[in-house]
Amino acid sequence: MNKGYIDIHSHILYDVDDGAGTVEESVRMMKALAVAGFSVSFATPHNMPGNDRGALLSRCRERIRGITEKAGDMLTGYSILPGAENYFDATLDRGEASDYFIPLGDSDTFLVEIPFIGEVSLHLSALRRSGLRCIIAHVERYADVVQDPNKAYLFKQAGFLLQMNIGSLIGIYGFDVMKAAGRILNAGIIDILATDIHDIAHADVVLSKGLERVKALLPPRQVTKVLRDMPASAAHSRPDKPRTEEADLPRVR
Ligand SMILES: [Fe+2]
Repeated sequence: MNKGYIDIHSHILYDVDDGAGTVEESVRMMKALAVAGFSVSFATPHNMPGNDRGALLSRCRERIRGITEKAGDMLTGYSILPGAENYFDATLDRGEASDYFIPLGDSDTFLVEIPFIGEVSLHLSALRRSGLRCIIAHVERYADVVQDPNKAYLFKQAGFLLQMNIGSLIGIYGFDVMKAAGRILNAGIIDILATDIHDIAHADVVLSKGLERVKALLPPRQVTKVLRDMPASAAHSRPDKPRTEEADLPRVR
């Protein structure tokens, strides 16, 4: 049933990164999302420094067309929009980030992943200096945060939106991540929950057991907030910015 949920983090596109392998798998993932109540997916393939942003974006659009055509009438009304999971670490400067970062759809918001190992604070300070509006991907999975979940507050203090993977709450990434995820969610600092699904088996588990767990942990109003309202406002199009083309992409302020 369509609940208007918006998934801002997924590897639903086939043959782009370590996500879906075929167009058929992408369509099955999209169907599973629709059944679970989603109506929009941002396709967020891994985007690394030095990537050709224009080439990645056109590949994304081509794959989105392929999936939409293959799904046909089955999934009318379901949208897949282009985005990326942009990698960033403290060795990169602000100019480099704005050279390759890809926003979510037509918004001025970037989904960003930092290194899993090591102190998070250095990377956060560098990212903050970029002046870009960022959502930190799967905040609960960084080793530093797993060890001390209070470090999630550093991301918040730096002014970033925080995204958690639904699968973390059911132990997909191990017991320690699950424990940290539960504590951070309970602290009320998570803005957005997303799937980060890479294949159909992953999708099936996250969208059944994972969503069930979310609904057991959060009151209905909060579920709607982290799965629909916050993702919608974070990835909202700017009225003065008609579409994401290479020339339109934001520069460092
Ligand atoms: Fe991801």
